[in-house]
Amino acid sequence: MVRLLRLAGLAAGALLQTAAALEVNFADQTDVFEAASTIAFGLMKYYTGNNTGDVPGNLPDPYFWWEAGAMFGHLIDYWHITGDETYNNLTIQAIVHQSGDLRDLMPKNQTSTEGNDDQGFWAMSVMQAAENNFPNPPADQPQYLALAQATFDLYVSRWEPQDCNGGLRWQIFAINPGFNYKNAISNGCFFNIAARLARYTGNQTYAEWAEKVYDWETEVGFITPQFTVEDGAHVEDQCAQKTEFLWSYNAGIHLHGAAVMYNITGSEVWKARLDGLLATTVEVFFNNSIIFEQACEPFQVCNIDQRSFKGYLLRWMASTAHLASHTADIIRPLLQASGEAAALSCDGSGSPGVDFRGHPGTACGQDWSKKTFDGFAGVGEQMNALAAVIYTQGGASAAPVTLDSGGTSRADESEGTTKKSKYDFAPIETKDRVAAAFVTVAFCLGVVIGTVFMILD
Ligand SMILES: *[C@@H]1O[C@H](CO)[C@@H](O)[C@H](O)[C@H]1NC(C)=O
Ligand SMILES: *[C@@H]1O[C@H](CO)[C@@H](O)[C@H](O)[C@H]1NC(C)=O
Ligand SMILES: *[C@@H]1O[C@H](CO)[C@@H](O)[C@H](O)[C@H]1NC(C)=O
Ligand SMILES: *[C@@H]1O[C@H](CO)[C@@H](O)[C@H](O)[C@H]1NC(C)=O
Ligand SMILES: *[C@@H]1O[C@H](CO)[C@@H](O)[C@H](O)[C@H]1NC(C)=O
Ligand SMILES: *[C@@H]1O[C@H](CO)[C@@H](O)[C@H](O)[C@H]1NC(C)=O
Repeated sequence: MVRLLRLAGLAAGALLQTAAALEVNFADQTDVFEAASTIAFGLMKYYTGNNTGDVPGNLPDPYFWWEAGAMFGHLIDYWHITGDETYNNLTIQAIVHQSGDLRDLMPKNQTSTEGNDDQGFWAMSVMQAAENNFPNPPADQPQYLALAQATFDLYVSRWEPQDCNGGLRWQIFAINPGFNYKNAISNGCFFNIAARLARYTGNQTYAEWAEKVYDWETEVGFITPQFTVEDGAHVEDQCAQKTEFLWSYNAGIHLHGAAVMYNITGSEVWKARLDGLLATTVEVFFNNSIIFEQACEPFQVCNIDQRSFKGYLLRWMASTAHLASHTADIIRPLLQASGEAAALSCDGSGSPGVDFRGHPGTACGQDWSKKTFDGFAGVGEQMNALAAVIYTQGGASAAPVTLDSGGTSRADESEGTTKKSKYDFAPIETKDRVAAAFVTVAFCLGVVIGTVFMILD
């Protein structure tokens, strides 16, 4: 099935290839920004949240809520690097709309299925808005820093020492599949946000939590002595047996958090972690200097979520080069090569079932080693290529700010005393645990079937 789709996509791409491929002179910044604008235009044609009567902040099916949150992170950096304000208002509107009644990035429409990582991807985007001095929402609306802090507070309340000696679960609620799974991405969101809050506010409590999360992930074996970052483990066996898939976003989220911790401490301990994570990231996720999602991309079995992962790794690498200048010599050539390869993939015209409505012949593909569109179009492909192209110029943009160096996003003073009571969760009951165990078994079977499919393909 996957193979057929790909061939059909290739044929369609080949026919229209001559129409208007994206040609970029990377020595000319204006040209690069123009290409980025074309890719962003194609990306935002998928977004329906700006249509009359639609819900701001949502992407249409099959894209989940978390990916929309992640997409606004790319748009915030797009503005920061290129200065193009086209999508700013729509981004502010989306964040305010999805902030939730309690201003904690838990909007009612999402909470039944929301995981710690879903909340985290929105929180990392608002954190980035604060660090980039992205235009703030009106004063009576939720502020970026306050939303990131509320997410941090919730993570602290969900830290759970009784299983696996600590860590966040993947899911927040017992009814959801994956509640019995603790994973690197959820704890990576906690680590990354805590480190950045520490840097932005100077408050040591956040730095202590960042340390604590990183240490736990090392103890439990999600972060290995070789600095690979494994996917996660189940609470039934106290996280003994790891799910060993390596995903680019798990590497990137920890790499970036370590860079932030190194930036604020200057410590040799964090430098060693940062350098170790970087060396392993380069070894695992790059081939001929071009980034790739090694667990699924070569087999063409990446799911919708996974098809957006490598763009986040690029974002976190670009920021790492800012925060720890000794890494720039390693990182910038990889960003350059990946950006150039990504642009070459943007000569497609969509793929079966995907309605690409950007400029004809500029749909971006998934596998950039092909040097042309590979038949896979979609939001993830468009996001990744946008990231790759802008980060070739990332060195020219300002470094992330803090409250002491011009940051304008503030905590929401009015919250203060009411904060605690609003986060009262019902205790987990035995029957929920049993139900969760069943869904986890179903989830594991899904993983097994997926793996078999991957091997068969
Ligand atoms: C969003 O919607 C408004 C109102 O319909 C429109 O003026 C604006 O051009 C749209 N923005 C984008 C980026 O599509
Ligand atoms: C964004 O919104 C502000 C306030 O409503 C308005 O003044 C400005 O023109 C808008 N910018 C764009 C690019 O649409
Ligand atoms: C929740 O979903 C409903 C139905 O789609 C929609 O009308 C409403 O605007 C959504 N609310 C928020 C805050 O997104
Ligand atoms: C630092 O952050 C923690 C956690 O939010 C908070 O309890 C504490 O009051 C903050 N300290 C200062 C000095 O702001
Ligand atoms: C790396 O690229 C080379 C040349 O394109 C290719 O032969 C090789 O299979 C790639 N390696 C991986 C792990 O995909
Ligand atoms: C931290 O980041 C800032 C901004 O890029 C930079 O000026 C500073 O030198 C960095 N600190 C360290 C210890 O690398």
